[in-house]
Amino acid sequence: MALYSEKVMDHFRNPRNVGVIEDADGVGEVGNAKCGDIMKMYLKIDDGTITDVKFETFGCGSAIASSSMATELIKGKPVTEAMTLTNKAVAEALDGLPDYKMHCSVLAEEAIQNALEDYYTKNPDQRPQKNEE
Ligand code: FES
Repeated sequence: MALYSEKVMDHFRNPRNVGVIEDADGVGEVGNAKCGDIMKMYLKIDDGTITDVKFETFGCGSAIASSSMATELIKGKPVTEAMTLTNKAVAEALDGLPDYKMHCSVLAEEAIQNALEDYYTKNPDQRPQKNEE
């Protein structure tokens, strides 16, 4: 069996939503200290929906494929749904990642979480109340 699925190779070779959103509503950046890879996510949010998302990833192929797939999974979705996106869901959507590459998908989950946290810090009135979750 090939080490990487066709979906991983496709998203690595033709990553979706690469770039920067200059007037982003939330920006999140994460890095992995061990491998040194860095991922940055930009979110545009309107009325509780993620209307646009872009990423910049300085990292391995799995990290690029994970970022690309993660942006596809949250684009056009409610913020509440994006908050619950797990790295496992990203890896599953890519038809799997080798075990030792799962940490690459964790970067995508964390970058989105950080970007959402940035959005809520700037827009505290939008933050869901605990009892509304
Ligand atoms: Fe570090 Fe993939 S090897 S994110």
